[in-house]
Amino acid sequence: MSAIKISVTKPEAYDILIENGSLKNCGELIKPVARGKSCLVVTDTNVEPLYLDTVVDSLKSAGFTVNSHVFPAGEESKTFRTVENMLGAFVSAGLTRTDFAVALGGGVTGDLTGFAAAIYQRGIDYIGIPTTLLSQIDSSVGGKTGCDLVYGKNLAGAFHAPKRVIIDPDCLDTLPQKFFSDGLAEAIKYGVIKSKKLFDRLLEEDAHGFINELIEECVSIKRDVTENDFFENGERMLLNFGHTIGHSIEKYYNFKDITHGEAVGIGMVIMAVAAERNGECELGTAKLITQALHKYNLPATTSIDTQKLCEGAFNDKKRRGKDIKLVVPERIGVCTVKTLPCDRLVDYIGGDR
Ligand SMILES: NC(=O)c1ccc[n+]([C@@H]2O[C@H](COP(=O)([O-])OP(=O)(O)OC[C@H]3O[C@@H](n4cnc5c(N)ncnc54)[C@H](O)[C@@H]3O)[C@@H](O)[C@H]2O)c1
Repeated sequence: MSAIKISVTKPEAYDILIENGSLKNCGELIKPVARGKSCLVVTDTNVEPLYLDTVVDSLKSAGFTVNSHVFPAGEESKTFRTVENMLGAFVSAGLTRTDFAVALGGGVTGDLTGFAAAIYQRGIDYIGIPTTLLSQIDSSVGGKTGCDLVYGKNLAGAFHAPKRVIIDPDCLDTLPQKFFSDGLAEAIKYGVIKSKKLFDRLLEEDAHGFINELIEECVSIKRDVTENDFFENGERMLLNFGHTIGHSIEKYYNFKDITHGEAVGIGMVIMAVAAERNGECELGTAKLITQALHKYNLPATTSIDTQKLCEGAFNDKKRRGKDIKLVVPERIGVCTVKTLPCDRLVDYIGGDR
C-alpha cells in the first residue's frame, strides 16, 4: 500500500472590527482583504430599508462593483431553497472565485450567506456585517454556516470563516427590543460557561449601558473558545450550552413563535436544574440563570414534556452514535462537556420536571 500524506491548511486568521458608525465606512474597511472587485450584498427584507443603501454606497465609493440580493426575513427562510436562490443571485451577479459576498443582517443572513459562499464554485470569500446583538456577539464569530432541514435546526452547513467582520453597534438602535433580549440570552450563556464577572455585570447593570464592552467581551470569549477548536471536537462544544434542548424547543414550535435566544435560555435553565438534581452543579445556579433571563424579559420555562424535548434533541448535531454530548454547568463561569447514552437523557433531565 502507498500512503501519500496530503497537508491541509488551517482556516486563515481574520479580524473582527468593532466601531460605532463603521457601516458608512465598510467599503474602505473591506478593501484590504478583498481579492476581487465584484461583490453581492445579501440582506433580508427588514434590514434592506434600514442599511442596504449605506453599505452599497460605501462599497461603490471604495471602487467595488456591487449587486444585492434580498430574501424574506425570518428563521423560516433558513432553508436550502433560500440558499439556492442566493446561489442564483451569485451567478447573475457574475461572481467569480476571487469575488465575495457580504452578509448584511442577523444570524439568519450570516449563516445562509456564509453557507452559499462556502459552496459557490467550491468556496468564495465573504464578509460579515452583523446587525443584531446575537449575530454581533455570536454567530458572526467562528465560521459556522448553514441552514435548517425539516428534520432539525442547522443540520446542513459548512465551516467557512469570513475574511473580515465589521460590527457597528449603532445598528442595534433599530433592533426591536425582543431581538435585543434574544441576543442577551447568548451573552448570559457566555457568562455561565466562561465568565462569572460578565454574568454578574449583566445581573447588576443594564446591558444597554455597556454595550460596546459587552460585544468585545463576548467576541473575545468566543474567539478564545473557537480558535483552537475550529471543527468543534472539544472546548468549542461549551458554546452549545442550552442549545441541545433549545434547538429541540425551536423545532417543536416549527421555528416560529419562539426566538433562538428564548429557546436557548430555557435550555440553559433545564440543563442547570438537571445538573443540580444530579449533584453535578452548585445549588442555586439555575435560579441565578433564571433571574438573569427574567431581567431581560426572557422566558425560563416551557410546558413541553421531557420526552418530547429529548426526542427533538436526538436529532441534534451533538449526538454521536448512541451517545449525546451535553454541556453541564458546574457553577456560574464553569461548564463541562458530558457524554450520556441517549436512552438516559430523559432520566437525566427528569421525566417529571
Ligand atoms: N453560526 C453560528 O455560530 C450561530 C450562532 C448562534 C446563532 N446562529 C443562528 O443565528 C440565527 C438567529 O440570529 P438572529 O437572532 O440575528 O436572527 P435574524 O437574522 O432572523 O434577525 C432577527 C430579526 O431582526 C431583524 N434585524 C436584523 N438586524 C436588524 C436591525 N439592526 N434593526 C432592525 N431589525 C433587524 C431581522 O430582519 C430579523 O427579523 C439562528 O438561525 C441561529 O441558528 C448561528
